[in-house]
Amino acid sequence: MYKLTYSTMFDPPPEMHSRFDAALKEVRSQLGAKHALHIDGEDVHAQQHRDKRSPIDRDVVLGAFSQATAADADRAMQAAKAALPKWRATPVAERTRLLRKVAQLIEERVYQISAALALEVGKNRMEALGETQETADFFTVYCDDFEKQQSFDHVLPNDPLPNAVSRNRSVMKPYGVWVVITPFNFPFALAGGPVAAALVTGNTVVLKGASETPWAGRLLADCLRDAGLPPGVFNYLSGPSAAIGDALIQHPHTAGVTFTGSYDVGMKIARQMIQGRYPRPCIAEMGGKNACVVTAKADLERAAAGIVRSAYGMGGQKCSALSRLYVEDAVADELVAKLRSKIAALGIGDPTRVENWFGPVVSEKAQRDYARYVEQLRTGGATIVAGGEVLTQGAFANGYFVTPTLAEAPADHALWREEMFLPILMWRRIRSLDEGVDLANDSDLGLTAGVYGSDEEVKSFLDRIEAGVTYANRPQGATTGAWPGYQPFGGWKGSGNTGKAIASFYYLAQYMREQSQTIV
Ligand code: ALA
Repeated sequence: MYKLTYSTMFDPPPEMHSRFDAALKEVRSQLGAKHALHIDGEDVHAQQHRDKRSPIDRDVVLGAFSQATAADADRAMQAAKAALPKWRATPVAERTRLLRKVAQLIEERVYQISAALALEVGKNRMEALGETQETADFFTVYCDDFEKQQSFDHVLPNDPLPNAVSRNRSVMKPYGVWVVITPFNFPFALAGGPVAAALVTGNTVVLKGASETPWAGRLLADCLRDAGLPPGVFNYLSGPSAAIGDALIQHPHTAGVTFTGSYDVGMKIARQMIQGRYPRPCIAEMGGKNACVVTAKADLERAAAGIVRSAYGMGGQKCSALSRLYVEDAVADELVAKLRSKIAALGIGDPTRVENWFGPVVSEKAQRDYARYVEQLRTGGATIVAGGEVLTQGAFANGYFVTPTLAEAPADHALWREEMFLPILMWRRIRSLDEGVDLANDSDLGLTAGVYGSDEEVKSFLDRIEAGVTYANRPQGATTGAWPGYQPFGGWKGSGNTGKAIASFYYLAQYMREQSQTIV
């Protein structure tokens, strides 16, 4: 089978399209099924189900998904707690064998899962395939990393005592039951990554999928179930955050939480986790208000390609999306002309079709928010250079379609500071790289950042930029497209609370606590 990587997404072999088309047909023929939760090794239905419709066409019902209650959350926590002693004592080689099997199942199902992701979230086919493969790679990378990290359980110098010797060592142990709370935009990868990390390090897991994307979580649960994980080691809940989110976070068995999503919710959960009887770890991957600086020495063709991809990929609904662009005055008009022509050439429409790169936004609310932001840009003195429309006619009538927007905005516009999570890129002119770096750093968030310029400018930018993930002169994405095993991914400042990046060698240690052991 053709192995996907981030770079093959730019040059897919024809076989990839025919296999995706066949899988899409198969997945479409099975729409409307009733889906269960997964608790204690069993697929169990909640009392209520809710139809999930496609953002591409709201008449298409993808399935009816179980709506877990607080009682279901408690059952999942009890199962995870009961499974913990055995799982934590399972030899690492056995844990990694099972988790590598999950990766293998994801790869075997890559086309079917990707077709479902495209229908559920409105991703284009290449982005859906990329996300699915990325998830398999998270499982593999964390298994590889953990096997290497076995040396972390290290022996320390003996401590001579009168008439005895104390033998000293340090051991890393899992925390216990780990709760994973995921966003809609990468509903498979950002569930699979933390789940793999928590499990390989010996924790058991309760996964709560984003309420907008119950199918993705369910497909991941299928892979974990079919890999043969012991009952209770992994549990999956779909349903409304209001009913189960707090029930999981406040549950007495919850030892740690990984949350990926907005700054406001991440901060709330981080606070909840340090309150209570004692503080518990929370890994919060939060928002982005990511900037790119283009200097007069940049290759503008590369810059335009990377900017369009990062601002509008997945409808701008990525924490890594580019939303602030600072361009040196001398090349601003030329770059903007290039951006306009690239935006005009984007295929907009049903993203499962090969010719469409830009699909719908995720929901009616997102479409309404888009209209409100565009209005706010206009009334705040911005010039809409491209886009700015909500599409409601013809083939767009049943979905949540908008156009990729580029706006030249005044320096004091309030939206320079707000994460919109939509395909809206604001830009302004700068006099120098230094001004661009200062503006890029003038944000409470610090996830990704990009630069296009000379080697010296790149060095100067990288020395000073306050962001966890950085890219220079990259046509495949100015601020997006980190891949496990190649780019560790984590936010500085308000974008993340740990200073450790996902898929980094340092990531797994966060799922364990250290015990110093002295034996005489
Ligand atoms: N891996 C995704 C990106 O870097 C989040 O855009």
